[in-house]
Amino acid sequence: MQLKFDFNNMMDAYIGEQGISEAEIEAVLPKAKEAYAYFEKNRGKGWMGWSELPYNQAEIVGDIILTAAEIRAHYKNFVVLGIGGSALGPMAVYNALCHLRYNELEPEKRGVKFYVEDNVDPERMHALLDVIDVKETVFNVITKSGATSETMSQYLIITDLLKKKCGKDWAKHIIATTSESKGNLIKLAKQEGFKTYYIPDGVGGRFSELCPVGLLPAAVLGIDIIGLLRGAANMDKACDGSDPYKNPALMAAVLSYIAMEQKGKNISVMMPYADSLKLMADWYCQLWGESLGKAVDLAGNTVHKGQTPVKALGVTDQHSQVQLYTEGPFDKVITIIGVEHFKKDIEIANGAEEFKDVNFLCGHTMGELINTERVATEYALTRSKHMNRTILLDSVNAESIGELMFFFQMETAYCGSLLGIDPFNQPGVEEGKNATYALFGRGGYEAKRAELEAAPKKNSKYII
Ligand code: PA5
Repeated sequence: MQLKFDFNNMMDAYIGEQGISEAEIEAVLPKAKEAYAYFEKNRGKGWMGWSELPYNQAEIVGDIILTAAEIRAHYKNFVVLGIGGSALGPMAVYNALCHLRYNELEPEKRGVKFYVEDNVDPERMHALLDVIDVKETVFNVITKSGATSETMSQYLIITDLLKKKCGKDWAKHIIATTSESKGNLIKLAKQEGFKTYYIPDGVGGRFSELCPVGLLPAAVLGIDIIGLLRGAANMDKACDGSDPYKNPALMAAVLSYIAMEQKGKNISVMMPYADSLKLMADWYCQLWGESLGKAVDLAGNTVHKGQTPVKALGVTDQHSQVQLYTEGPFDKVITIIGVEHFKKDIEIANGAEEFKDVNFLCGHTMGELINTERVATEYALTRSKHMNRTILLDSVNAESIGELMFFFQMETAYCGSLLGIDPFNQPGVEEGKNATYALFGRGGYEAKRAELEAAPKKNSKYII
């Protein structure tokens, strides 16, 4: 295992009454055992299909690798059209494992250019079309439901352009990644003859990075997708047991549960100290927020659970948010992600010998500096009794990223069980989707439209 989970600074021995005692962990052990048992009993079933992805995709992985090689050989751009769980994983893995200025590299130093379009801002769509030629581009339309307005509107704009510019071969420029059994994209894919990958039924959007949703874009980028899956399997095996002291994701969930339910920590800050992990914080925010933010529990009681995820970047946000984190309210858990060995390091050159206050930096490396600042921030947070934890990766590579993502997915699933809520649904997201359909006049949503029209009108007094 390349990942280490260090929770010292969540404990009362380090942050006093703001922290968690071993006795408090002990008291949650029966619930933790139940959460573990639930996970094991439901592996691969219902919405837990994602738990088996590290093991059951040998055939599909082979197909994806061949398709990716074809794309690299014949096209210049690969564009993902998707949103939420159909976009955040591909972006996070791209950012983690490709050159940080990948698209700007000379063509011989990279593969196809890569774009993820996860919004319906018209200026952004124009901007994309200003820099790509659709004739040289493969569009990977990713939508589990096959119905999401944002993704389907992008699909319609792009297919119209492809038909105009590519003639009879236009459908070769589309790859659909969607549910095999529901939605419109699968019907369109069959009708138009698109190459198609399936999102397995038991894999929800935010748990889908390790299925074709994430594997195809990663493979197109030349990322070792077998390594990603191997990393996930490593983490799964490391979490094999109901004793939290021997199961890192279960311990993380137990501590998060106590932090939320007993210590008033309503906010979870995700702060990687590596630019390559910056978008991992975005991916985490969706996973944690959408999974645990629920109005009702499994028994139907109104509970309004959840912990607000916030993204931050070390060291950049030391100069923006960390003042609040070290001196503000005791309402947060700050997760620091550290990287012991960067892919490349750079020495801080000599050049200001006469200025002692600058010269102390010389001879060290930027890698040393960022990691020293990480340790210093951890110290400052702990000294001010603010709850924090560190996830340390030996280095950022396909395997360690697989470990990291599976760790957070398992922590989320365990935490959902501990909270007694369903971490796999998203009624709040569906509500927004349905309201959009109604406002846009989609058939079948007339009652929702009437409901919206009956909602209280805005008071002009409050708009100035
Ligand atoms: O996690 C989820 O299920 C959601 O965030 C979805 O990923 C998001 O709404 C996009 O849905 P779809 O993939 O069906 O287009």
